[in-house]
Amino acid sequence: MMDELDPFRDFQRTHYCAEITEQDIGREVHLVGWVHRRRDHGGVIFVDLRDREGTVQAVFNPQHSPASHRKADALRNEFVIGVKGKVSRRPEGMTNPKLKTGAVEVMADELAVFNRSRALPFNLDEDLEVEEAIRLRYRFLDLRRPSMAANFALRHRVSKITRDYFDGLGFYEIETPFLTRSTPEGARDYLVPSRVNPGGFYALPQSPQLLKQILMVAGMDRYFQIVRCFRDEDLRADRQPEFTQVDLEMSFVEQGQLIEIVEGWIARLFEELLGKTLQRPFPSMTYAEAIEDYGVDNPDTRYGLKMKDITDAVKGSEFQVFRQVIEGHGIVKALRFPGGTRLSRRELDNLVGMAKDWGADGLIWAKCTGAGLQSPIAKFLSQDIVGAVIDRMGALEGDLLLMMAGSPGRVNPWMGRLRTELAEAYDLIDSSAHAFTWILDFPLFERDKEGHITSMHHPFTAPREEDIPLLDENPEACRSLAYDLVLNGTEIGGGSIRIHRVDTQKKILSILGISEAEGEEKFGFLLDALSYGAPPHGGIAFGLDRLVMILAGAKSLREVIAFPKTQKAACLLTQSPGPVDAEQLRELHIRTVLPKKPASG
Ligand code: AMO
Repeated sequence: MMDELDPFRDFQRTHYCAEITEQDIGREVHLVGWVHRRRDHGGVIFVDLRDREGTVQAVFNPQHSPASHRKADALRNEFVIGVKGKVSRRPEGMTNPKLKTGAVEVMADELAVFNRSRALPFNLDEDLEVEEAIRLRYRFLDLRRPSMAANFALRHRVSKITRDYFDGLGFYEIETPFLTRSTPEGARDYLVPSRVNPGGFYALPQSPQLLKQILMVAGMDRYFQIVRCFRDEDLRADRQPEFTQVDLEMSFVEQGQLIEIVEGWIARLFEELLGKTLQRPFPSMTYAEAIEDYGVDNPDTRYGLKMKDITDAVKGSEFQVFRQVIEGHGIVKALRFPGGTRLSRRELDNLVGMAKDWGADGLIWAKCTGAGLQSPIAKFLSQDIVGAVIDRMGALEGDLLLMMAGSPGRVNPWMGRLRTELAEAYDLIDSSAHAFTWILDFPLFERDKEGHITSMHHPFTAPREEDIPLLDENPEACRSLAYDLVLNGTEIGGGSIRIHRVDTQKKILSILGISEAEGEEKFGFLLDALSYGAPPHGGIAFGLDRLVMILAGAKSLREVIAFPKTQKAACLLTQSPGPVDAEQLRELHIRTVLPKKPASG
């Protein structure tokens, strides 16, 4: 029988479980929550009572309160209960220093059972590894664990501090529509069919990019929004199909001012949430430096392992691979792993195997020993070349050099990945560090896989003033006024100063191969707006989920999003996406054509 008790009338909560301290000893408390664990120790029943904030031990002693002890006997995990009782000190030898409330317990006088629970699909103990699919399917149970609740408390604080900070600087939070037109952020759109406009589709915004620019043209001066964005792209631990941006835009702003404002915000988050004072201004490097030294534009600067170009040092070597690559205008890059001579042959073979799995032709290792360079290619390298390489790398005895040859577009990212793999495998990362780096002076354009010119950020990014003449002669050499902020190897934000003149905007669209008609069709409203007195403006957007993930020390966005999606963009809790009625499709003027199932057998 369920108790006919009103939790609000009879069990007005006086404390959250984890709030009870030694100062409450002797006080009567009223607690409500879930049975985390129940133990029967020869007549006395102990219940770890849990709520959002944590647990406290409730003691049901038959001598003290026979009625509540009798009821406690029927308790099972995740029953919802209310307990009234006095706080007392735990007896000698029974304290638990690992628990916040480990020195106290509540001697129960009364117990109310508000609800029962079925047997659980998994145990809610914090330190148990549970398969993620089960956690997501039963997210309401998974989120009950105080460590998960703590992530959402943190996320809430991040949003609150963010709103207060930007409000303090005169930013307005303005909502932009979800049912809108395609925004070119480089992913596929999620489309929504329109019932009342047969054949018409809205696109869910990949970001509010165009609309926030329009708000600047509209004279709003300073805009921000904590906003959901939608991108149909391949998912990874730090990518979700719907994610949240802290999005902002300012009029009459220069790159330096914007960076300063953003640093002030990040510094406040770290100060208030982690009690950590960040050194400002944050370090920065150009895109070219990032690629040169780290192979990627999101370098993790918590550790060294910088790489160097050794192409001219190995020029003229007898080694065929180097010769061919250099003749074909490729490069040879190397990184120095201090103390790496301790790696066994097997470990080295594994590194080479890993690089080959990525698609690299090979990876060459060389150990710097007292007796010279020890390497499978040592016999092809003259003393002069060995000397030049050691010199260039600043290599010392005990170091391991890892080298790769090929086109820059392939070698750089692979060497960048190798750098991360080494740091993780050999524990070179200080996990308590927060290393920020601004990446500046991005190229305005890059080539996609098909060799077409595309925007490196998006087509509304302004070129650097001094590079504008290059737009005609050599657009690929043109640098932009874009900036990304990288934290521990994750791009947490990116933005730019925008083009505010319609003639420049049209020129960029034409370089991108977008015809006037297509430009009109896709971004006509922006071009229109730019021609009615658009102020100079710029902005940036941060991945809120990524930022919270790093602040929480989590490894996946799924730990900081209440109802995240899987790698296949599915929600296991609500079982979406799912089929819809034929009638719904008919109303939307849609007929589906499913891919043919591969023949079985
Ligand atoms: P960008 O595309 O760089 O810029 O996005 C800004 C930031 O959003 C985060 N982010 C993501 N987080 C989780 N899952 C995803 N799929 C995902 N994609 C992006 C990243 C990224 O740095 N309109 C521009 C901003 C501007 O120019 O002002 C934009 O959206 O942390």
